[in-house]
Amino acid sequence: TANTMWGGRFAAGPDAIMEAINASIGFDRRLAAQDIAGSRAHAAMLAATGIISDSDAAAIGEGLLTVLSEIEGGTFQFSTALEDIHMNVEARLKEVVGEAAGRLHTARSRNDQVAVDFRLWVRDQCDAADEALAALQKALLGQAEDGADWVMPGFTHLQVAQPVTWGHHMMAYVEMFARDRSRFADARKRMNLSPLGAAALAGTSFPIDRHMTAEALGFDGPMANSLDAVSDRDFALEFLGAATICAVHLSRLAEELVIWSSAQFRFVKMSDRWSTGSSIMPQKRNPDAAELIRAKIGRIFGANVALTMVMKGLPLAYSKDMQEDKEQVFDAADNLMLALAAMAGMVGDMTANRDSLKAAAATGFSTATDLADWLVRELGLPFREAHHVTGSLVALAEEQGCDLPDLSLAQMQSVHDGIRQDVFDVLGVGNSVASRTSFGGTAPARVREAVAQWRKVLG
Ligand code: ARG
Repeated sequence: TANTMWGGRFAAGPDAIMEAINASIGFDRRLAAQDIAGSRAHAAMLAATGIISDSDAAAIGEGLLTVLSEIEGGTFQFSTALEDIHMNVEARLKEVVGEAAGRLHTARSRNDQVAVDFRLWVRDQCDAADEALAALQKALLGQAEDGADWVMPGFTHLQVAQPVTWGHHMMAYVEMFARDRSRFADARKRMNLSPLGAAALAGTSFPIDRHMTAEALGFDGPMANSLDAVSDRDFALEFLGAATICAVHLSRLAEELVIWSSAQFRFVKMSDRWSTGSSIMPQKRNPDAAELIRAKIGRIFGANVALTMVMKGLPLAYSKDMQEDKEQVFDAADNLMLALAAMAGMVGDMTANRDSLKAAAATGFSTATDLADWLVRELGLPFREAHHVTGSLVALAEEQGCDLPDLSLAQMQSVHDGIRQDVFDVLGVGNSVASRTSFGGTAPARVREAVAQWRKVLG
């Protein structure tokens, strides 16, 4: 049988496979609350502008709340024949309130309807991401507070570079996640304009008030161009862009936790709550959550690429291709929120192994740069020459099978006769980090400043 929404022109209903490829109700039912909020704002505006009667608008507004409670209560019968959430809601509204329901779609199209629903949904996700990121920052800040002066190796190329502090390393991620928050906030601000009232593509001849519906839905105003309003999915792409970068950051931290919790590093111990065992190897404590977070970037970046490809080359205005926007964003958002929550939990519960960190900090000639700096400062050597002298001392220590502080003064003087006993002061890892007081440096005093500032921001 022909469709009740547009059956006037059709003699026959769709092929079953046509229905299967066309329907979006399987996933866009997640937009139910947004759809109903949009419809309620639209109906109220239609009455305020005299386009429909107050009594029809009241019946529609009430009826939509009934439909919403049916959906939330799980009693709503979704129908694939009705394609999507918009027509499912409207069809049920007709059953609930009768004829008045038919007036709701005046001066509106599913094109602006879906655009407004999806914008509202993505806007909520920006807020959710912000909240989840703030919780993760707090967990990192707690770690940094505890270990502001715990020394550990800093790495470049995953080779020991210079000693840093645990707190400094944690605060590096606080900064990264702050940028992620600002990216979501920025995207939110730009997306916060209403497409409602663009109708199918050209606007409408009815005397609608787009400012009124925009305000009712918490938008900063209406989008300026009706063609753009129904065609734009930049807001979803920006969300996915911000999510992708955030997932990159999560994957880097996850990777560090995987490495750090290994028997070779022993930098951190994950709590039982965030570890898994092995069905065969009794000794195992696997960092599965960290590994899964490391992997989430795959589907999040995948969603970003997929939607970018969907939008590429689409002529204006709406094309059904754009229905493919939702599953990508839903999946990316769900997995981002899960990853953020898991990371906050893991970081909050993990225990840094202060002794392992300290022991590792002294390996790999990590204070060689401090030695070179001493030669510059105390003996007036040009840095390039100091670099060369220090390189020879490292080679000597390596030959002797010892670390730099284990060389005798005589051995040091055999490489450069100006070296004095007080050089040993700078070879300790504690002194090394304490000396790095430049702005943004790893000195515990600097780390405590950064922690205090963030504590004020995060509460
Ligand atoms: N289900 C559609 C979507 O998600 C709604 C808009 C359909 N508009 C149309 N003219 N077919 O994009």
